[in-house]
Formats: sequence, C-alpha cells, structure tokens
Amino acid sequence: MGEALNGLKRTHYCGEMKETHIDEQVTLMGWVQKRRNLGGLIFVDLRDRTGICQIVFDTAVSETAFEKANGVRGEYVIAITGTVKMRESINANIPTGTVEIFADSIKILCEADVPPIHIDDNDEANERLRLKYRYLDLRKPKMQKNLMIRHQIASSARRFFDSNGFVEVETPVLTKPTPEGARDYLVPSRVNPNKFYALPQSPQLFKQLLMVSGMDRYYQITKCFRDEDLRADRQPEFTQIDIEMSFVDEDDVMAINEKMLANMFKEVAGLDIQTPFLRLSYNEAMTRYGSDKPDTRFGFELKSLNEVLSASEFKVFSGAIASGGDVRGININGYGDRFSRKDISKLEDFCKSYGAKGLAWVKIQEEEVSSPIAKFLTDAEMKGIIDTFEAKPGDLILMVADKPSVVFDSLGALRSEIARQLEILDPKVYNFLWVTDFPLFEYDEDEDRFFAKHHPFTSPKDEDVAILNSDQGACRAKAYDIVLNGYEIGGGSIRIHDSKVQESMFQALGFTEEEAREKFGFFIDAFKFGAPPHGGIAYGLDRIVMLMVGTDNIRDVIAFPKTQDAKCLMTNAPSVAEDKQLDELYVSIKPFEK
Ligand code: AMO
Ligand code: AMP
Repeated sequence: MGEALNGLKRTHYCGEMKETHIDEQVTLMGWVQKRRNLGGLIFVDLRDRTGICQIVFDTAVSETAFEKANGVRGEYVIAITGTVKMRESINANIPTGTVEIFADSIKILCEADVPPIHIDDNDEANERLRLKYRYLDLRKPKMQKNLMIRHQIASSARRFFDSNGFVEVETPVLTKPTPEGARDYLVPSRVNPNKFYALPQSPQLFKQLLMVSGMDRYYQITKCFRDEDLRADRQPEFTQIDIEMSFVDEDDVMAINEKMLANMFKEVAGLDIQTPFLRLSYNEAMTRYGSDKPDTRFGFELKSLNEVLSASEFKVFSGAIASGGDVRGININGYGDRFSRKDISKLEDFCKSYGAKGLAWVKIQEEEVSSPIAKFLTDAEMKGIIDTFEAKPGDLILMVADKPSVVFDSLGALRSEIARQLEILDPKVYNFLWVTDFPLFEYDEDEDRFFAKHHPFTSPKDEDVAILNSDQGACRAKAYDIVLNGYEIGGGSIRIHDSKVQESMFQALGFTEEEAREKFGFFIDAFKFGAPPHGGIAYGLDRIVMLMVGTDNIRDVIAFPKTQDAKCLMTNAPSVAEDKQLDELYVSIKPFEK
C-alpha cells in the first residue's frame, strides 16, 4: 500500500541538487534507482526526470527512516526529506555527485514489482520487450532526453513561426483521402452507413484551401497517417511540421525555412548552421550521389564510365550501355586495403538487394591492378577506368552496369553502406542541402502510367506547363526537398494555383474528368474563386529529432511507436472489433486468407 502525500510538497528536482544547497532542508520525490545497505548506512539513488541524487539514511539521524528505507527496492516511488551535505567521496560521473541528502524521513508512495527491463541506458532488453513495457522504457534517462529534445524542437519551430506571422490552424483528421503516395487508413462512418473517412496522409489539401481563404501564412504540428511499408525511418502515424505561405516563390520558402532550421539547431543543440544551404538539382544529386537524399559528409562520388566502355568486348558493360543503361562506379579512395575479396563479395550481395546483377571491382595496388574483370578489358579500357577515377594505389573502384534506376539505387546505397562500415560518418557534422528541380512525374512500369512524384498539386516549372500533357517524362516541378545527412527531413513545392493547370495535371495523371471531380471537385472549384500563388513545405518532425539525438531508429524518438508490422505491443492495437460495433457500422468481416 502506498502512503498519501498528505500535504507534503516537493521542494526540488533530484538533478538540481548541488553545493549551493548545502545545509538546506529539501524534499525530493522520485523512483529508487538503487539501494545499498552498508550496515549502519543505507544509500539510495533517487531518480526523477532531471537526474539522480544520492540519499543517505543514517541510524544516527533517524532510526525510523533507516528501518523504512531498508524495505525499499528498485522502482519504489518515495518521498524523502532531509539536509543537503557535502559528499565525502565525490562522484564525478553525475552532476549531483558532490552532494548527498541525509534523510530524516521517508514516505513510500508506491511499491513496485521487479521491472521486466532494466531502467538503465545500458539495458540490453530486446525492443519488443521494451515496447511492451514502454512506460518503463521511457523511464530511462536517454529516452527521457529524446522526448525532451523532441519537445524543444517542436517548441522552437512554434516560436519561430509565431514570430514570423504564421498562424497555427488545425485541420481535420476525419476527412477525404489526401494523396501522398501511400495507402489510406479508412474509418467507417456509423451515421453514414457504407461510407468511409480517410485519415489524412498530410494536411495538404486543407493548407492550400487556407491560402485560398486568405490566411496567408499557416503552420501546424500535426499527425499524418500512411499505410505503407515501414522502415527504420518510417512510422504509420508520424508528425509533420507543416507550413504554407501565400504570394511566394521557391526562393522565399527556402529562405525562411533555412532561417527556421538554423534557429532551431542553435536553440536546441547550440550548433551554428551555415546558411544559405547548398542546392543540388535532382539530376546533379542523382549523377553525383546516386540518390535524391545524398549524404555529403563523405566523397565516393559516382562517375560515369559509359564513354570508356561503350565499345567494350565485355558485354556486361557494353550491352547495358547499348540498351539504354549505364555503367557507373565509385572510388573508395584510400580505403581499398580495408576490403578483402570476401568483403567485396558481401558488398556485391548488398548491391543485388537493390536489383543489381553484380558488382565489378578494380583494386589499385603499388605493384599491380587486381580485378576479376581485367581479363575481359583492354589495357586502354582499364586505363580509362583508372583515369576517370584518378585512382591511386590504395583505391578500390566498384562498378555496376544496369538500367539507370538500378545503377543509381545500388551505388547510392552502397556509398552510404561503405561509409557506415568504415565508420567515417561524423554524427556531429550536419550537412543540410536542398534538392531542387525534381521531375514532376514518375513512371510506373508495372502500371504503365505516370504518377505525381511529389503530389498532384505541385506546380510544373513555368517553361514546362506547355508539355504537361505531351512530354510528362521531361516535365520538371517547382519542388524541393530538404536533406540532412542522407535523410529527407522535409519536402515541399510551389503549388498549382490556376484551376486550368490543375485540370491538365489531373489529365496528365490519367484521371478522367469524373474521377477528378469525385476525388477533388471541391478543391478544383476553390481555385475558381481567387487563389493566391502559394507554396510550402512539411518536415518529418520525428526524423529531425532522430538526427539531432543521433539515432537511426525512429521508434527511439516517439513515445508510443508502432512496430514494423504496425502494431502497438503495449496496447495490443490493432485488435478485433466486437460484433455489436461492426453491426452499428454496417461492416462485415471477410475471412482472412494468407
Ligand atoms: P512528404 O510526403 O514529402 O510531403 O512528407 C514530408 C516529410 O514527412 C516525413 N515523412 C515521414 N516520417 C515518418 N514516417 C513516415 N511514414 C513519413 N512519411 C513522410 C519526411 C518527409 O520529408 N504535403 C507534403 C508537403 C508539402 O508539399 O508541403 C508532404 O506530405 O521527412
Ligand atoms: P560474370 O562474367 O557474370 O561472372 O561477371 C564477372 C564479374 O562482373 C563479376 O565480378 C560480377 O560481379 C561482375 N558483374 C556481373 N554483372 C555485372 C553488372 N551488371 N554490373 C557490374 N558488375 C557485374
């Protein structure tokens, strides 16, 4: 049974205790991290959100308190009152390590069972157990710090936008589908039988309509929902810092967002971020890094070998080029000796997981060049490869021949994988950059049609409006992504504000007029009543927090996240619905077949 507070007030947090408090009478409350009984003395490490403080129970101070303290165990919730004293043996490892509290009274506010996980940053419990007992996992100092940094990031963004004329407006969660390229989560409507709301993949439609309604500058920190395949940096529900502005072009949106980010990183992490950020066109990002979200903290840039190898007898190379593909490679300059044949064969498997058929390599050594494909190449071709990469002894050139998308994807990923293996990624370096001039459309081979690369409301470049319905592949967008150390932390665009252009966009995407009306009629109509030119951006808040705290697991920065298969292990959501609920919703369950 736990004791009641009975009017007892906390005077300080545990982590605040320091020498300036010496001889003060204090009351602290928190969780027992550890208890040690050294005969006449009991030491308790008391923990709260701010840190740990050492409490001493001494029979010379209070017999009763000593006896009671002897009964506490790890994770008991207690309140103690006592006097702050200088410590005899200073603990330099914790901020409160110069002082300790000699307790004259203790209340046991709540007892605790032995926790299934260790409340310690070095706990090695598997993640499923951590997620099941998330409230215990969140007691760990590191997790608490992550949530506090998340809070600081959100509140820094709020302060910035507040002081720059932005108005926070809430937009609906029960709504029509907002396409962002994922599947929708659907919610059946009881009062409208057989009809469904969709949870928003983003507030995109509403924020644009707020511009039509004259709100001028909007922001919102809000949940978005996407039913898509999850990865280490994706959750089915995640948080966006969402922004929209009227009467702006690309440069305006980018400029204010650079200021916002520089301000955020200064306020939260004390870092000076240089602005303006580097800008790379989509084409340049792809050809140099094989990725539209390049990590520029290291080199190993891609180079084309098409010219050198187009006439080669080695058909793996010349054949790929002849059929419209590419041969490109990267030079792991200076690190060649770190990769054995076996290591390279693992890298080849890595590339194969991105669709590559193989990974050709050339290792430059002092005396010779070693390469399994040397026998297929002429001396001039080998020299061409070496010259292209300005390769020196100690270098390793890795090459992929395939259709361009496979070459870029595999080499882009390989570049980062190798940098990770070599441990040359400095987590303290923050390389922001914009990727601009995205293609407006993306061709889907399976469905044999074009999709919007960003979303269907993104404006084509002015000079490409004319080819919207004739040469989709060549259309570029007024779209920009903000990239940090290989992660896309945000993306946005200038929007179409002319209903005619919007209609041709839907046409280009293969919507019939009826389909477009059914899905977006309200939206198309709105633009007939006076829409300002406008644009904006949305950040993945979770991803910014990940990068700021230095984790590559998005779940570490979300209080109650879901697993890769979209489950909450703590609440057991999603779960079976009762027949009565389903009846009320006019929903019947189709048996599940694998
Ligand atoms: P976009 O789809 O690029 O743009 O999303 C913006 C940012 O949100 C983050 N993000 C995610 N984070 C975690 N889990 C996910 N499943 C997930 N999906 C996206 C990314 C991404 O850069 N309405 C547009 C923005 C606009 O045009 O203004 C949009 O949603 O960091
Ligand atoms: P093969 O003649 O298929 O045994 O291939 C000889 C070498 O070329 C091996 O080292 C393969 O890994 C490599 N290779 C095969 N296909 C490709 C490809 N599409 N791109 C790059 N290297 C390849």
